[in-house]
Amino acid sequence: MTFPADAQTQNLIDGRWIAADDGASIEVADPATDEVIASVPSVGEAETRRAIDAAHAAFGPWAARPAGERAKLVARLAELMHRDADRLAAIMTAEQGKPLAEAKGEINYAAAFLEWAAGEAPRMYGETIPANTADKRILVMRQPVGVCAIITPWNFPAAMITRKLGPALAAGCTTVIKPSELTPLSALAIGELAIEAGLPSGTVNIVTGPPQGIGDAFFGDERVRKLSFTGSTPVGKLLVRNSSENLLRLSMELGGHAPFIVFDDADLDRAVAGAVACKFRNAGQTCICANRFYVQAGIYDAFVERFSAAVSQLKVGRGTDEGVAIGPLINDGAIEKVRDHVEDARSKGASIPVGGDMAKIDGLADRFWTPTVIDGMTPDMRCATEETFGPVAPIARFEKDDEAIAAANDTPFGLAAYFYTNNATRLMRTAEALEYGIIGANDAAPSTAQAPFGGVKQSGFGREGGKYVMDEYTSVKYVSWGLV
Ligand code: SIN
Repeated sequence: MTFPADAQTQNLIDGRWIAADDGASIEVADPATDEVIASVPSVGEAETRRAIDAAHAAFGPWAARPAGERAKLVARLAELMHRDADRLAAIMTAEQGKPLAEAKGEINYAAAFLEWAAGEAPRMYGETIPANTADKRILVMRQPVGVCAIITPWNFPAAMITRKLGPALAAGCTTVIKPSELTPLSALAIGELAIEAGLPSGTVNIVTGPPQGIGDAFFGDERVRKLSFTGSTPVGKLLVRNSSENLLRLSMELGGHAPFIVFDDADLDRAVAGAVACKFRNAGQTCICANRFYVQAGIYDAFVERFSAAVSQLKVGRGTDEGVAIGPLINDGAIEKVRDHVEDARSKGASIPVGGDMAKIDGLADRFWTPTVIDGMTPDMRCATEETFGPVAPIARFEKDDEAIAAANDTPFGLAAYFYTNNATRLMRTAEALEYGIIGANDAAPSTAQAPFGGVKQSGFGREGGKYVMDEYTSVKYVSWGLV
């Protein structure tokens, strides 16, 4: 399916589709071609305040609905996403670049967060606690936090929204969503389906525009009670500072710098397949994708050879073309960062058995990078210390387990870490020693709606998925009941 000409391009406020007050707009371009595919409103503080008004007005009635009713509407939105998966995938590939099959996979992944949250809504259990005196009872209940501001990135234009929207709505919160200016069309398409699903006006509002005005509205309004953000660590820190005025509840899913360790006793076939899948998902533009590899000396040469052979098979091209595994990077800045990391490693003595340069494709923009393996990463290389966010796999050799674990932990980030071993004791010791929120032990694809996704250290805080996610959108209220 090609990009649908009737894709929604207006903002959603209080159940109505609106333009910016002053008519301003932002162009959305296909990163593979630079072709402008649509324009969306460039709204600011005033429009966002109206979205908050709508979310605030909708909150009381929505929170008062029985959890089962809220769950049905959230689940209906998931059904509609499955129904329209091809259309949503076409929109995503056009604005983000990822291959169509991967985009469709993301739509199903995104719907799973809604399904999971719908299942959790009726299970927002409270508690009774034995009181300190005979004439009292202690009750604990969970209540929705209120209006939630949701700020999402361009790398997963659908799933990062539903991962927050699903539990927020299921818990009884209402939302104002600000998607990335680079990928607003997927968000607006989800907004259309939210209306079709029957979600009441004001429960889902979507505003597009530059961060400043929208952020000013979010941070300047006491009716906003919660901010959930996925994006870079520097932006996350800024948002944490800005949210201090009104002491917003926060969920922060920030940057990563994932290590991928392969021990001598690993199953080499599985490790190579896992390494390719983990590193090159979304062309390496994923917070949890492997950013640096540590391979034990006894298996090093075999791993580099087989991994390089597998990487050389990955087809680069436009996401709409058959068999493409690696689409364009999101913008010129992304290409520059990848180039800097590769050139830095080359200048410091690494060898590059595969890739190492841009992929020039006739008729397409200069935004494709050939999947690259860097053999001989050393700690002074930028790729060893910074998130590359591109299709580059640097590999270092290690001798002793402790060496790899120390290198893996030697970073301010703590989102995801991976390792492969067939020794159960080594597996448990390594899982315990790695300072990360998510561990893939013989598994390169840990993301799922059933599990708690989130980081430690400067990768943020809060958990999305699993039963834990409902805690992010609810407050605990304690009732001390004196018997009369
Ligand atoms: C991310 O890159 O932040 C999300 C990745 C995932 O959900 O697997």
